[in-house]
Amino acid sequence: MAGSVVMEQYLSVSRAARLVGVSRGQLQKKIRMGELGTFEGNVQMADLQRVFPDVDPYHDTEYDRVREIKSKAFSKRVHELLLPDAEVLFERLNELSVELSNARGQFSSIKRIVAMLKAKLLHAQSTESEQERGLATSLHEWVSRELDPVIQEAEMVVPLLVQNSLLRLVTAHVKLSPSGHEFFVEGNNSILDSATKAGLSMPYGCVDGSCGLCKARITEGHIKKIMNYSFLIPEEDQVAGYALMCANTAVSDIQIAVEEITQPDDLPFQTVETDFKSYKPLSSNVSLLIVLSPPSNRFRFLAGQRAELRPGKDLIRTMPLASCPCDERQLLFHINHADNQLVAALSSLRPGQHLSISGPYDDFVLNTESSRASVFIAYETGFAPVNSLIEHAIALNMSERIDLFWVARTSDGHYLSNLCRAWHDALDDFSYTPLILPEELDCLAEKGDLHKLLTGTKRDYLPVSECDYYIAGPELFVDMTCEYLEKSGALLDNIRSTVLLPDKA
Ligand code: FES
Repeated sequence: MAGSVVMEQYLSVSRAARLVGVSRGQLQKKIRMGELGTFEGNVQMADLQRVFPDVDPYHDTEYDRVREIKSKAFSKRVHELLLPDAEVLFERLNELSVELSNARGQFSSIKRIVAMLKAKLLHAQSTESEQERGLATSLHEWVSRELDPVIQEAEMVVPLLVQNSLLRLVTAHVKLSPSGHEFFVEGNNSILDSATKAGLSMPYGCVDGSCGLCKARITEGHIKKIMNYSFLIPEEDQVAGYALMCANTAVSDIQIAVEEITQPDDLPFQTVETDFKSYKPLSSNVSLLIVLSPPSNRFRFLAGQRAELRPGKDLIRTMPLASCPCDERQLLFHINHADNQLVAALSSLRPGQHLSISGPYDDFVLNTESSRASVFIAYETGFAPVNSLIEHAIALNMSERIDLFWVARTSDGHYLSNLCRAWHDALDDFSYTPLILPEELDCLAEKGDLHKLLTGTKRDYLPVSECDYYIAGPELFVDMTCEYLEKSGALLDNIRSTVLLPDKA
């Protein structure tokens, strides 16, 4: 086993985080604070062992905790560690065996060279020349002092190496260029599905291998076809490494050259006939609508965007999606009961019935390039797009710190408080503050009381200018909050907002 020491000295940050059972954000924090060194963006195994000396690599406490909360919080989302099928497992075992035997050979050679060098230097110490004896002695001391600890240290990280090899059997690591985003492929999931679950938007269309939109170039590592497909990839493209991301899984750790979708303009306008799944109350004023995109025609959107619903003849509503694109086919909406017409139409739908959805609209999306702390401020059902953004930020492991302020007229208005508390319990750097604002917005605005309430959104730990703000609610609330934040020193470029349309009576 010591042979794998040479090959596994460095790990990607994602792989290292998964290995010691902490979030990627936590590990990055340690890197930023200088507690953990990196070399070309990778973490050295021995450093990892030094910074996490007590970690039991066989017990992923923190990782399990986040996984658990993710699966609870994202309701039906499947987030289990899947085992690959026999063929993929065989390919991965094969890859690992080759690496292992190469590394074992290299490590044995290095140990043998060091031992031979020491023997030669010992022998040289018995020479007649005093100068040569002195030189041989100091060289022998240097080899013992500098090289012996390196070999011992390498042997010490064996438990981590064992766990890493096991992880590599069931999960392959994927790195995208030029973005540098990383994710894992579990079992024999497709590369595309794994990227989507990790909150990343690779281009795609049909998901059944017929459109070719998910074609990307594998620049390193090996993949394996997991389904038959009809799209023909030209011979020269195949030679260059192009493959369909919806039809292949990763056998080894891989790198892919692909332009991700990060801006609303990158997505086409779509109309999709979804299947109605359920419509259930979340509180006395709000219900949750769930619809499913067809498997081969998923509705593509970025977290925080809106869609147009047509639940009945001549009935059209444009509403924010409350789900994360990482939920794949499942689309969620928070419906305010004040919209009687919409409530009546949705209440009459039966599971499986079609509901037409068009879009996406709006540019209220995450700034995925930012590493600043994120502050979300929602008013009542303004929580819907914020819900989508926060789940996306969690899936991306994006922000070191997230603060959520949810303003409502009564405590009933915080209709998903349990979800917010679950996020708080699962994530180390997440705070949730429900705020009650008992009067109508225009009265408060006249009295200036909204500004008073918003002083509660300031945090001592960071200046306002060093945070990104995401605000969702009625126009007056959004305007006043933006004005307040700007006066408090927030930078205009760091404020994103969306105005909810008034609920129809
Ligand atoms: S998404 Fe259409 S071929 Fe992969």
